[in-house]
Amino acid sequence: MHFPNRRKGLILAGGKGSRLRPITNAISKQLLPVYDKPMIYYPLTTLMLSGIKEYLIISTPEDKIIFQKLLGNGKKWGLEINYAVQDEPRGLAEAFLIAEDFLEGNSTVLILGDNLFHGYGLSNLLQESSLDNSQSTIFLYQVKDPERYGVAEFDENGKVLKIEEKPSKPKSNYAVTGIYFFSNDVVKKSKLLSPSKRGELEISDLNNLYLKEKRLNAKIMNRGMTWLDTGTFDSLHKASSYIQTIEARQGLKIGCPEEVAWRMGFIDNESLKKLAQPLTNSGYGEYLINLLEES
Ligand code: G1P
Repeated sequence: MHFPNRRKGLILAGGKGSRLRPITNAISKQLLPVYDKPMIYYPLTTLMLSGIKEYLIISTPEDKIIFQKLLGNGKKWGLEINYAVQDEPRGLAEAFLIAEDFLEGNSTVLILGDNLFHGYGLSNLLQESSLDNSQSTIFLYQVKDPERYGVAEFDENGKVLKIEEKPSKPKSNYAVTGIYFFSNDVVKKSKLLSPSKRGELEISDLNNLYLKEKRLNAKIMNRGMTWLDTGTFDSLHKASSYIQTIEARQGLKIGCPEEVAWRMGFIDNESLKKLAQPLTNSGYGEYLINLLEES
């Protein structure tokens, strides 16, 4: 597989996490555990599976230092990780303005730090989308409660006409998931946006700009894949149970950056062994050693 080596990854891990208070009184939501790993490992590994090696993590000023402690400069996983802050939650599309210097005019993929993706065919779907630099790509997923999300409106041929942000009367059950591939004019386009009624630069407005130019590819993420968000007590608990159930059944980890780095060829056997050593007490290190033995 050939990877476009310059598409760069953005992980948005800002926000106040107000729906998870008091858990988030002292720590960012994206650092909370989802079963056996910090939440941010899941979106990070999703982007790693699409072949991305350069990242910008955008967090609150207070949490930046904790993300740095957790992930470092990324070298241990064969990555380059940079950091920036969003001091107030002014919308998802602000991420592209914050990332302007980091992107250096390259195409990008943005993932929300509290979104969890899993399932057969996911890496292929992402790698395919990563290769297309002329268009932008979003993913739609059928949900029971579309009014909580950006929602697609379709014409009679199943073509997307418009994305509506949190509509009270959704025109379909297809929500826009929190992973977006944008072509290299995304910074320029984001500068055209004005804040919505809730005072945010909306990613749905940005998607509608691409739609108008017929440059938005909306792909259906099928029901064989799992998309979870983790922004409330219940959804966080359910995400942990989901990971625990599948990991216990298969003996394979989901969202394990050391494993993904190794499988993607970002690090070699020796590096994986070194990463495993300090993690043996929790069983996580043994899992990594077993991967080497089984291979
Ligand atoms: C945001 C976007 C929405 C998208 C959702 C995915 O919602 O505005 O369009 O469907 O992420 O998680 P928010 O996190 O602002 O509720």
